Amino acid sequence: MASASRPQFSGRLGFVMAAAGSAVGLGNIWGFPTQTAGNGGGAFVVVYCVLVFLLAYPALMAELIIGRYRRANIVTALGGMGSHALVRRFGKGVGLYGVLTASLILAFYSLVGGWMLAHTLQPAFALIRADSGATWLTTQTPWRDIIFSGLFAGLTAAIVSAGVKQGIERWARRLMPLLITLMLLLALYVWSLEGAETGLKMLLLPDPSGLTNPSLLISAMGQAFFSLSLGVGTMLIYGSYLSPDDSLPATGAIVAGVDTGIALLAGLLIIPAIFAAQHLGIVIYGEDGTLHSGPKLIFNTLPALFSSIGNTGLALAAIFFALLSIAALTSSISMLEVPVAYLEESLSLSRKRAVAIAGSVIFSASILIALYFDQLFGFVVTFTTQYNQAILGIVLCLFSGWLLHREHLLKVLGKKEYRLFNTIWPVYVRFVCPLLIALIFVHSLRG
Ligand code: PHE
Repeated sequence: MASASRPQFSGRLGFVMAAAGSAVGLGNIWGFPTQTAGNGGGAFVVVYCVLVFLLAYPALMAELIIGRYRRANIVTALGGMGSHALVRRFGKGVGLYGVLTASLILAFYSLVGGWMLAHTLQPAFALIRADSGATWLTTQTPWRDIIFSGLFAGLTAAIVSAGVKQGIERWARRLMPLLITLMLLLALYVWSLEGAETGLKMLLLPDPSGLTNPSLLISAMGQAFFSLSLGVGTMLIYGSYLSPDDSLPATGAIVAGVDTGIALLAGLLIIPAIFAAQHLGIVIYGEDGTLHSGPKLIFNTLPALFSSIGNTGLALAAIFFALLSIAALTSSISMLEVPVAYLEESLSLSRKRAVAIAGSVIFSASILIALYFDQLFGFVVTFTTQYNQAILGIVLCLFSGWLLHREHLLKVLGKKEYRLFNTIWPVYVRFVCPLLIALIFVHSLRG
């Protein structure tokens, strides 16, 4: 497993940028606001924050701890834990399932990332009145999807093949500050629009009756696991590149905090924008009386708002979709790192070759999804994010709880943190966390 030449992030900041880059993605800027809009506003935000703290942060710690302890990709890491051959074989199987899931997530994520790139270019075409080009860019067709997901996958592959420090960390350091700046600029603009305060109220004043709704719990847990990139070995492999002297619990808490903070900021940007759109006469409710959410919100309501503001609106639209593209890219590189690290470490391939192999297999899957969109897209999303992430999350908690003993934890965490952590951690991660995830998961299957 670990070798002397194993790559490492340059320090805590580099890790935080990369891991927050992985966490902050379409899940935050698209998923969180649309789920909030579709689930009654502030109540969803409250439940989400509680679940991040109770379930997602411990699951994140479980992955980081395993990654740092084993210093290897998810397959090698899980395949080497426990003393029974059967447990090891099971671990290896779970690891491979994680690699498959990360790759499938990347296959549909590249498609969505491609939509964002196409929408980023559209305002430029609209500005020079190249109307047919602008329409082509924003109309979903297999060709547009294949070309732009190829572009998105190409960018992802180029960054990952440059290496952990020179590629992933370097680009996360460049893109994350840009992302936050663009978001703040847009938010300031949106808050100045008439009608925005209705959205702010919806988000900040939760309706308590919503808090007991079980479907809220299910959506919020899925959203939290997806948003923190859990279960599929991304945080595990990033944890394995963290230098041994950085405090794990604190670093993990920063990543979870940044991820949640940016999701909230995205909510504070997008939901007020919906009501500013309504103020301008744009329809924001569907026939059944619920707020437009999902693709309708991102690709209809918000562009309608932008285009009603004239040329400034075109700039705003370009900034908005650039923001989404950047967020998607810093996440997609972390997904690709999962199969790449596995191929590199287990099969001794060079990084470039590993990227070429994993990249082309995953891109082929994206092409299939683009061609059979109606049959495949929803299925792949549900299978990977709703089922697999929860199941893998449970197994990772169990592995870190039952197969890492006192001396391992002591080694990974250091004396001071170990003492603090050890009071509740073992019981929590062995019993409470897996049970709670399982309960919510089973409930989601029945409902
Ligand atoms: N966390 C990313 C987002 O919010 C998605 C992701 C899932 C990234 C799984 C890596 C692994 O968009």
